[in-house]
Amino acid sequence: MASSPALISDTEAWKDLKGHVEDIKKTHLRDLMTDANRCQSMMMEFDGLLLDYSRQRATVETVDKLLNLAKAAQLTEKISRMFNGEHINSTENRSVLHVALRAPKDAVIKADGKNVVPEVWNVLDKIKEFSEKIRSGSWVGATGKPLKDVIAIGIGGSFLGPLFVHTALQTDPEALESAKGRQLRFLANIDPVDVARNINGLNPETTLVVVVSKTFTTAETMLNARTLREWITAALGASAVAKHMVAVSTNLALVEKFGIDPNNAFAFWDWVGGRYSVCSAVGVLPLSLQYGFSVVEKFLKGASSIDQHFQSTPIEKNIPVLLGLLSVWNVSFLGYPARAILPYSQALEKFAPHIQQVSMESNGKGVSIDGLPLPFETGEIDFGEPGTNGQHSFYQLIHQGRVIPCDFIGIVKSQQPVYLKGEVVSNHDELMSNFFAQPDALAYGKTPEQLQKENVSENLIPHKTFSGNRPSLSLLLPELTAYNVGQLLAIYEHRVAVQGFVWGINSFDQWGVELGKVLATHVRKQLHSSRTQGTTLEGFNYSTTTLLKRYLETSSEPQM
Ligand code: F6P
Repeated sequence: MASSPALISDTEAWKDLKGHVEDIKKTHLRDLMTDANRCQSMMMEFDGLLLDYSRQRATVETVDKLLNLAKAAQLTEKISRMFNGEHINSTENRSVLHVALRAPKDAVIKADGKNVVPEVWNVLDKIKEFSEKIRSGSWVGATGKPLKDVIAIGIGGSFLGPLFVHTALQTDPEALESAKGRQLRFLANIDPVDVARNINGLNPETTLVVVVSKTFTTAETMLNARTLREWITAALGASAVAKHMVAVSTNLALVEKFGIDPNNAFAFWDWVGGRYSVCSAVGVLPLSLQYGFSVVEKFLKGASSIDQHFQSTPIEKNIPVLLGLLSVWNVSFLGYPARAILPYSQALEKFAPHIQQVSMESNGKGVSIDGLPLPFETGEIDFGEPGTNGQHSFYQLIHQGRVIPCDFIGIVKSQQPVYLKGEVVSNHDELMSNFFAQPDALAYGKTPEQLQKENVSENLIPHKTFSGNRPSLSLLLPELTAYNVGQLLAIYEHRVAVQGFVWGINSFDQWGVELGKVLATHVRKQLHSSRTQGTTLEGFNYSTTTLLKRYLETSSEPQM
């Protein structure tokens, strides 16, 4: 049997798609959209969700070829290996099992031969009990007052996912009701301004601090944790830490060393990547404190529903698989380096920043999983804003400048409907009018002939012409409950994995974030010695030396 090529770009399926690009270049979405059979074949429904990818620059043949690429990449096998707990994160020698975090209690998912689902549920049960104590006021602070405010300290995956879910649930009627009288804030940046903003208006007596860090070594998080520990102990004495600080980590030894009672620590495991950890205690603890465990459990169930779909649905009907393949098509074959995430929902305003980390930290790689340099680019530049805000910002570029494949995400039923008497439509219909219009504006554009018919003056015709043929896809959710938020999260997590599986990279490590951290350590040491002993700058290039000199000479930072 012939051995399979080391790089996906060496396969016949890849080369076939390369050749197929020329066919697609001859098409225009204006024409492709007239083929109802094609469009119908590009609609997928699952568990209340509707995906429409008919506005991708793709034909039925393209999709077939992409499915062949998936087979050449052994995508189905790779998905199974993930669910089976194999160490697919080979550079860190770890399983990748965030799906176990939301699995039903009776599921069996093994890592290193051991079913991890009971451990997951032990922690979930502990969160349920603890959050109920805090919310009911049976757990009180050092001065006997209930803890109604929570500051969650964490960065990257220990921040962005929980912030996204919190922001999404804030106006959901059920979540809103259960969060009455409570506040949840997030402290991520080591910029002291972020501390000031977080503690502004809060009283240590009624505040619980949750330190969230997988490693419990992240410089920003640990300094912020020490800063808030100081804030608490200065007001309430050292013994108050036991009542006012809890932790989420895989490193329980360091949690204890920090001074947090191990009984007040909530564990997770090395088989959960930071950016895939929102369904662990990382997200579930702060969110349960704010909304109650029963709301958060619905979020986990929504994610689990997509996990099951992803694991068991044939690739041609599998939503995350199709999305992943289309992204590979856009990036590697059509050459579009970016992707815009455009939820027509203010509640999803933190979705794009979360997916930025999930996608860019996972797939921004330069070598294959076996360490071979890649002759093609991986990952894409993800960015986005809620509609309609984005329309008044960067859509100009998307319509007439660069081609950026867009994800339009719409919600059928608003969390907070408003109907004004005498208005043409409800406020949500107004929002959704844009959601339905923008994809067609991108796909069809506007021709000079159309403009001439409208008697547009000749000199303005080039400026008012829209080339069209700009790809997008639309995802319609029935509503935005905790359950739907979980679905959305899992769709994107798995889509990113699919892209990485097809490109043949390791989507679950992040070595690229290390170098900058190491260099910052050198700078930190230098700042310390310059400030305390007046040591001259050493070991930096001309540029950094000049900048550091200016900083040291002109800054008014207190001497340590
Ligand atoms: O930025 C790198 C990173 O390791 C992310 O992958 C991670 O989400 C973040 O730092 C925070 O790490 P930790 O949870 O260990 O504090």
